[in-house]
Amino acid sequence: MTLARRLLRTKPTERIVAEGGHGEGGELRRTMSLWQLTLFSVGATLGTGIFVILGQAVPKAGPAVVLAFVLAAVTALFSALSYAELAGTIPVSGSSYSYAYATLGELVAWVCGWCLMLEYAVSVAAVAVGWGEYLNAFLRAVFGFALPDAITRSPGQDGGVINVAAVVIVLLATWLLLYGASESAKANAFFVLIKIAVLLFFCAVTFTAFRSGNLAPFAPMGVAGITAAASQVFFSYIGFDAASTAGEEAKNPKRDLPLAIILSLAIVTAVYVLVALAAVGAMPYTSFEAGGTEASLAHVADLAAGATWPGLIVSFGAVVAIASVVLTVMYGQTRILFAMSRDGLIPRVFQRVDPRRQVPVANTLIVAAFVSVLAGLVPLGQLAEATSIGTLFAFAIVNVGVLVLRYRSPELPRSFRTPLFPATPVLGAVLCVVVMAGLAGVTWLAFGLWMLAGLICYFLYGYGHSRLNAEVE
Ligand code: ALA
Repeated sequence: MTLARRLLRTKPTERIVAEGGHGEGGELRRTMSLWQLTLFSVGATLGTGIFVILGQAVPKAGPAVVLAFVLAAVTALFSALSYAELAGTIPVSGSSYSYAYATLGELVAWVCGWCLMLEYAVSVAAVAVGWGEYLNAFLRAVFGFALPDAITRSPGQDGGVINVAAVVIVLLATWLLLYGASESAKANAFFVLIKIAVLLFFCAVTFTAFRSGNLAPFAPMGVAGITAAASQVFFSYIGFDAASTAGEEAKNPKRDLPLAIILSLAIVTAVYVLVALAAVGAMPYTSFEAGGTEASLAHVADLAAGATWPGLIVSFGAVVAIASVVLTVMYGQTRILFAMSRDGLIPRVFQRVDPRRQVPVANTLIVAAFVSVLAGLVPLGQLAEATSIGTLFAFAIVNVGVLVLRYRSPELPRSFRTPLFPATPVLGAVLCVVVMAGLAGVTWLAFGLWMLAGLICYFLYGYGHSRLNAEVE
């Protein structure tokens, strides 16, 4: 078989589905219901984006930041529809990696899996890095003391030595994940309800200080301001696809995965638009420059109420929100690696399932170690931006995957079909490329280096160990 044919070989959809759930030594357990899957995706999505980036995006768009959230949601929606179609057709754990393997071939699948490491493992480390600062804001407000900078910041940040706080949140999430997927999903559901309640509380407090005058002028920076803010807040929608990594632990994946993906996007969009409107209605947009720090939402809440306790509740919400992002995104990473290992592209240890707990224990521990080292020792600012580019690349592949599979295998049973085909996936792919094009040159450079490292790993290991290729030799 020639090199090109080997790299482009696809894995038959029926076979991917048939292998679902099986690991080495045991099977994953199907325990997740529709609402747990939906809250899983909401858990992975709703986090730093709304608590931090909203404050930074307001100076770009003015009150029209509300429209920026809508625009970013529309961009995400096209890809979400494509995810929903493929998750309902190929309901396994590998998310876009598995979809690419079924449609575009092994090399693209590998590249996609490598990008997903940016979306999952690297982004979770970046999110964990900020957790210590929220924890400190909360501790300071409640107890009047804060943990030393040496253990809540990364080396390279002011006064940071080792970000122990980031490591602690990663280890807590690991402990829950080792308990089992069902227990993790239950804990996550609880966290998500708290973070939504806190954001609704924020809306209730700030709407009491709502002044329609704060909304004028509505779009002081015009359309350009709105699109710039939309690119920035797109980050806050990343994660709606997390349910697609739970395909092998869902009770009724064909029906529930597409629904969970679309429902979660609808829920977070509603919350984001409401919170953004409440924030810009309560505080003139020109004041956001000063308040555009980590605690911007807490600051707005305090100002609206003329007291300090609402900010405290909002800080608590941020602490819980990030914990649930860490939990769900780490879960997603382990399941993607599980699928890649089953295909032979990475070592077999990642697909070993503990027969008693029915979770991939070694896999979870390796991911935890990797994320802990990154979160504890590496200042992740630049890499965090690279997560967006990797995610968008994976989204683009999913959109193309829908097109390919519809033309190549029209007969496959699909529990969900994207409406207005082929316009939706085509627009979805184009929008991903447009948002990617708007990202900084240095982000592209980091992405290029990451991809190069990925290709080297593939040719050193995956190419030779691929189960699919081994079978035809
Ligand atoms: N969407 C996730 C967040 O905003 C990444 O934290």
